[in-house]
Amino acid sequence: MAKETLTIIDNRTGKSYEIPITHGTIPAMKLREIKVSEDDFGLMSYDPAYQNTASTISRITYIDGERGILEYRGYPIEELAEHSTFLEVAWLLLNGELPTKEELESFQREVTLHTMVHENMREFIEGFRYDAHPMGILISTIAALSTFYPEAKNVSDPANRRLQIIRLIAKVPTLAAYAYRHRRGLPIVYPDNDLSYAGNFLNMMFKMTELKYKPNPVVERALDVLFILHADHEQNCSTSTMRIVGSSKADPYSALAAAAAALSGPLHGGANEQVIHMLRQIGSKDRIPEFIKKVKAGETKLMGFGHRVYKNYDPRAKVIKRLAYEVFDAVGKNPLIDIAVEVERIALEDDYFIKRKLYPNVDFYSGLIYEAMGIPLDMMTVLFAIGRTPGWLAQWEEMHNDPEQKIARPRQVYLGPARRPFVPIGERKKG
Ligand code: ACO
Repeated sequence: MAKETLTIIDNRTGKSYEIPITHGTIPAMKLREIKVSEDDFGLMSYDPAYQNTASTISRITYIDGERGILEYRGYPIEELAEHSTFLEVAWLLLNGELPTKEELESFQREVTLHTMVHENMREFIEGFRYDAHPMGILISTIAALSTFYPEAKNVSDPANRRLQIIRLIAKVPTLAAYAYRHRRGLPIVYPDNDLSYAGNFLNMMFKMTELKYKPNPVVERALDVLFILHADHEQNCSTSTMRIVGSSKADPYSALAAAAAALSGPLHGGANEQVIHMLRQIGSKDRIPEFIKKVKAGETKLMGFGHRVYKNYDPRAKVIKRLAYEVFDAVGKNPLIDIAVEVERIALEDDYFIKRKLYPNVDFYSGLIYEAMGIPLDMMTVLFAIGRTPGWLAQWEEMHNDPEQKIARPRQVYLGPARRPFVPIGERKKG
């Protein structure tokens, strides 16, 4: 039988090294044994942007980017989107199995009981400028929650971790809705415990003078499905941030605020907002070829296309595209959909995109649904953050239970100046 090892010959010394292969990886620390002399630091791998580095063993989310497969704990995303609810998926991500009826009911009750936030948070939010971006408010208020729960820093206590996990899943939508109401100059709306997780979020966003807010059931279900689709995506930029910050044993509010900050960038969760800007800028179907030309010339990117891992159609984009038409039937069509569908058609027939395996990602159609639901552009990444919260927390919990993890600390290749004496300011020359 072939050996599960890798033999490396160091041509500098002629020495040969046998390195074990486990689960298709080699342990990077083994490379350090490869030295030219006793005092040599040893070999490292150079991997900017971690394109080929597995930073953890995980049992939560599986992606096969070549085949367009996404599974949470072994369950295909399409089946979860069809049959499950967001809180059921949150339980699955956190606990590894689907909940029983009793477990789910008790989890729903627990989350519902924790949706309120301290009244001081209102004053904190009022301190933001009237036009503050809600993602900035969300990131800041999540971080600020740690000051309300100082015990959260006891991250080695599993029961304490669990309580903070429930609080975060419950309170992130409340903070998100408060951020929106502040931006609109509207009074905040308290959570309504009679409603579902998604229904209550819509209530906190959109309730006006009516005594009881009744969510549109199609919109409520669509939002729940969107949350499911965003719930986890293994070691992406924001999840790795959650783990890196958490690895220093920071409290989960600080770690989750950092993860949300990573998500806010236009190359990550900010892309859905950029897609709408792009579709508006294109404006009409006849202007698409001109726009595609600019993309191919490298002048701009086709936002919502391409993915570090998917080199095939993002399975979430398929579900979202279908969902979009259901929402449009219920609340009216977003006219940008026709442009989006045509952009996709043209791009998928174009050599530039085919060669680079660029397909629509989760963000290509999600913004269109949000817009049809009345959710403004600058709230779209905020909604992504609500959906991703259980995933970040499941990954954080897994990290705390992993005996192989330590404080994260990448290495560098230093190519800066060699040691030199300090130059007094009067003797310095420009350039
Ligand atoms: N439009 C045009 N060209 C693209 C795009 C795009 N959206 N994405 C990648 N390319 C091109 C690159 O220019 C590059 O071409 P080259 O080989 O001629 O230089 C090639 O495809 C490979 O791209 P990379 O940048 O190496 O791919 P990477 O894996 O680093 O980037 C990323 C992935 C950041 C998602 C990229 O595809 C992108 O910027 N997409 C647009 C932003 C977006 O939609 N982000 C959301 C991602 S999903 C999420 O985070 C939830």
